[in-house]
Amino acid sequence: MKKRTTIGFFDSGIGGISVMTYARTRFPSADYIYYADSDHVPYGTKKREEITLYSDTAVDYLVSHGADAVVVACNTATSMAIDYLRAKYSVPIVGMEPAVKPASEIHSNEKILVCATPVTIAGEKLHNLIDKNYNSATQPTLVATPDLVSFAENSVFDTETICNYLGTVIDKKESYAAVVLGCTHFGYFRDSFREFFGEIDIFDGTEGTVNRLFSLLCENNKYIESDGDGSITYVRSGRIVTEQDELTRFEELADRIVKYYK
Ligand code: DGL
Repeated sequence: MKKRTTIGFFDSGIGGISVMTYARTRFPSADYIYYADSDHVPYGTKKREEITLYSDTAVDYLVSHGADAVVVACNTATSMAIDYLRAKYSVPIVGMEPAVKPASEIHSNEKILVCATPVTIAGEKLHNLIDKNYNSATQPTLVATPDLVSFAENSVFDTETICNYLGTVIDKKESYAAVVLGCTHFGYFRDSFREFFGEIDIFDGTEGTVNRLFSLLCENNKYIESDGDGSITYVRSGRIVTEQDELTRFEELADRIVKYYK
């Protein structure tokens, strides 16, 4: 029997489950390994050296457990460590970046807000991306919203709490036309962003990343269609998750996000 394609996903925590969930709607027959670096979450307030070390450990695990490709489903780790990882490993490695390009194309000359972790907001990669896609008159507003990472990790999803927090960091009077969710943990709060802003276009990097993943798998002859759904193995900082309550929590997160992909 032909081996199924194995795709490794990695994030500091549960954020990347949102990206993997979308990938599974597109390619259900692959086997997935999801690595959450729960021992070290959050990455968004750490130094480059630490983030690179932890990302290296995660990718090493995924590659040594048979991943044909790895998705760094974390904007922060991509910003700090993707060049290092690509230079070190021979499997295709796909990163994530805030979706400022599609947002700028659809909302040229309108106000755009980018929310991400402090590390992504300060990182050179985001600033280069903005310089490529905007002129100086239409620069987006960048706001770090790190508490959303802890809310997601602690399963705090109630709209009132999230909107109250957003009100402390975002000035709603700016009337933004679009918000870019530049952290994979933030996708779980789409409903709260909508409640907070009312009419607003929401962008994230999920679709672009998954499209890139499939073209790389095809280019590398690693795209194998098989019958039936593949498996998902969840790993927390190198330990396979077997506890039923944790597995249920991960499945609930996937259910929370999958409605946006239908
Ligand atoms: N989910 C991650 C991202 O996309 C980072 C969250 C964190 O660990 O701070 O940036």
